[in-house]
Amino acid sequence: MLRTSTCGELTAARAGETVVLAGWVHRRRDHGGLIFVDLRDRYGRTQVVFDPSDSPAAHAVAEGLKAEFVLQVEGQVERRPEGMANPDLATGEIEVHATSATILNPSRVLPFEVADDQTADESLRLRYRYLDLRRRSMQSNVILRHRVVKFIRDFLDARGFIEVETPMLIKSTPEGARDYVVPSRIHPGHFYALPQSPQQLKQLLMVSGFDRYFQIARCFRDEDLRADRQPEFTQLDLEMSFAEEEDILRLTESLFTELVRTVTPEWRIISPFPRLTHREALDLYGSDKPDLRFDMRLHCLDDVVCASGFRVFRETVEAGGTVRAIVAPGVADYTRRQIDELTEMAKKAGAKGLVTLAVGHGEVRGPIAKFLSSEETAAILSRTGANEGDMVLIVADQVPVARAVLGELRRALGSRLGLAPSDLLAFAWVKDFPLVEWDEEEQRWDPSHHAFTMPKEEDLPLLDSDPGQVRAQCYDIVCNGFELSSGSIRCHRRDIQEKIFRLLRYEPEEIQTRFGHLLQAFEFGAPPHGGIAPGIDRLVMLLAGENNIRQVIAFPKTQSATDVMMGAPGPIDDVQLQELHLAVVLPPSDDKE
Ligand code: AMO
Ligand code: AMP
Repeated sequence: MLRTSTCGELTAARAGETVVLAGWVHRRRDHGGLIFVDLRDRYGRTQVVFDPSDSPAAHAVAEGLKAEFVLQVEGQVERRPEGMANPDLATGEIEVHATSATILNPSRVLPFEVADDQTADESLRLRYRYLDLRRRSMQSNVILRHRVVKFIRDFLDARGFIEVETPMLIKSTPEGARDYVVPSRIHPGHFYALPQSPQQLKQLLMVSGFDRYFQIARCFRDEDLRADRQPEFTQLDLEMSFAEEEDILRLTESLFTELVRTVTPEWRIISPFPRLTHREALDLYGSDKPDLRFDMRLHCLDDVVCASGFRVFRETVEAGGTVRAIVAPGVADYTRRQIDELTEMAKKAGAKGLVTLAVGHGEVRGPIAKFLSSEETAAILSRTGANEGDMVLIVADQVPVARAVLGELRRALGSRLGLAPSDLLAFAWVKDFPLVEWDEEEQRWDPSHHAFTMPKEEDLPLLDSDPGQVRAQCYDIVCNGFELSSGSIRCHRRDIQEKIFRLLRYEPEEIQTRFGHLLQAFEFGAPPHGGIAPGIDRLVMLLAGENNIRQVIAFPKTQSATDVMMGAPGPIDDVQLQELHLAVVLPPSDDKE
């Protein structure tokens, strides 16, 4: 090694030792005569002192040092002089007095500062990701990710799980996104799909008898990106045979609980995880991934306002809609402008309007307050639990719209009013999703989880008569407003699986070409099985206290799915196209290229 020690390990106990350090010039201060250099590597920082009377040659090297030069220094560990110790630094008690120094590599001026851990423009950071990853916060995110994955591997290994790699070049496995495809050179006009998840393969491993499988699996999905979505991402994919829902819930919950306790004990969690049905999540919080760090529940006012003097309320209830409310604490004094802003937010989320009732100074104020009888107003306050100083926000609409709008206002107000404790990871289970949801646009049923999910036994008869009412044996873990994991008990019987494919409107030939292998496997003794797949990126994002998964992925893509560092995607040359039997037809808007 070109060093004897790292920049993070030297303490006063090592005073007197001769050491060799190698690292980057973090900061250099010239005190006229003495030059101080903070040398940095991933373990920490060490102050190196260049004193011309110790070594004129080393001091001369130090005179030419600039930020981010790679430097090797030999010297003596010495206690810092009285009063000069830096308690914020692990090596703050000592400094190394250089006796020789070698520049291993100089550095050009960096496009942005890495020493201060201040945030530069993200596109610049992504273009020079290898420099961005020198920053302390990014290093600790990447290292945290390593520790999380290591913990998971050990935890599952200790419980008899086998890690199995599954192929990347496969046939489409639908998870609701578009596939990324890879053209075949050997088979003209044929394409592989990259896995949206290893779903079918892990089910086939259960048919093989592996019993307990997991994989830290890369998944690929061509879909619109958001803060918590990347085109390629990582799942902890796991599957168990002869397991029932409760077994998978218990295993996953203890994995998450132990993980937080061991790897990031600074977080509080709620244990055991609360369990909500999908219906409860929507009714109480207006979201299937509710942020349970704060309460602010939705309240149904239908019975209270069905004969309201305010026409919109009365008529909405009469027409089969609903009137629902949340209480925003302590904002009764919101200005006109702030209320308009909330109304805009509600409309953007799909509402026709927003009724606000401010409770303050012994009265209830709001644009429509005069249409409400005093009994009605009192009933609204008592139903919602609104107190002096609060504001009641009410939406009248179809049930799904009213829930979604209030869910969105709840989320926005929660963050604006700082209602969520900053040290809490509020994990919870959301269960009993409907098996399928009606897609109005496409006029067909879509799986709410995926096509391989087993209906609840008692709901099986409804598959023919009323598919929308069939509940699935599936479950999500949500945390702080994010969907963290999804899983389900699977169909292991060919007849049920085929029936579901048909319900999802797959043509018989399509069922055969896309899923024939799976259906056939179910005829060779497929055990009952189920599993789950926590998203590693989202999990590490939450554990790291970040709000974007790009912060915990070493080399992520931008919002438009590009790798600005390597320049992908990019065109390929004609020879390659020919070999792959491909011709490129650009859309008209791209003609200029
Ligand atoms: P699902 O599609 O719900 O289930 O995905 C499981 C988890 O993967 C994470 N995730 C993502 N993370 C980052 N970027 C994305 N684009 C992205 N998409 C999903 C989420 C999500 O909860 N095969 C099933 C699992 C199973 O049934 O066992 C599946 O893939 O955290
Ligand atoms: P309008 O009669 O449309 O002027 O609405 C009077 C008030 O009721 C305004 O504050 C609207 O924002 C509000 N409002 C209208 N429709 C709804 C609705 N469906 N739900 C909640 N508030 C509404």
